[in-house]
Amino acid sequence: MEENFVIYTEMKDFLKLGPDDEARLASLAPVFEKHGPGITDAFYDALLAYPKTAAIVDGRVDALKKTHIRWTMSLFAGEYGRPFYEQQYRIGEVHVAQDINPEFVEGVMNSLRLGGRQAIETELGSGMDAVLAHAALVKVLDLALMTINLAYQDERLTRISNFTGMSRKLLENLVKRGGKKKK
Ligand code: HEM
Repeated sequence: MEENFVIYTEMKDFLKLGPDDEARLASLAPVFEKHGPGITDAFYDALLAYPKTAAIVDGRVDALKKTHIRWTMSLFAGEYGRPFYEQQYRIGEVHVAQDINPEFVEGVMNSLRLGGRQAIETELGSGMDAVLAHAALVKVLDLALMTINLAYQDERLTRISNFTGMSRKLLENLVKRGGKKKK
């Protein structure tokens, strides 16, 4: 967990998600108060339109939409420290536990990028403010996705470790060395 938070912090630096973006994201909250529910509807429409994902969400879409809207608004709290990291990592764990293929999590993020862009254009037009606001949105969505993926990576190592009896540390070192044996 601790090592993953270090990776999260590095990725946040790498994406250059700094105070300007944080302020821009916080100022987008009213835009997403208004458009968030429509974006969430489109998100679940995308999942319901594909048989493999529909089979997972069918029958519980109304409940899922409620948590999804709460998550959407948390993107615009303007704070992306440890609690934000923990929230995304936990979402990763929840999806791992449901045996949802990570490709679908990555794929459906597309509907949030597109829906977010449309909402920003509708409210802010297409000038520089809108361009910078959309850039900030994409950064925070990518950061969330990377963190969700960290939970998937962790779980895969745990499963291989449990199955093979090899220690987690050994497996982690093996992955870091690209599978090459120590000379
Ligand atoms: C960008 C991608 C996604 C985001 C941001 C997201 C967000 C969330 C959030 C915030 C929760 C509630 C977590 C909690 O209870 O702590 C959740 C739960 C859930 N999500 Fe997603 N989700 C994504 C992709 C998907 C996909 C692709 C599927 C199915 C194909 C899916 C199916 C579910 C299910 C079934 C639950 C309920 C799990 C449970 O209650 O045990 N999600 N999701």
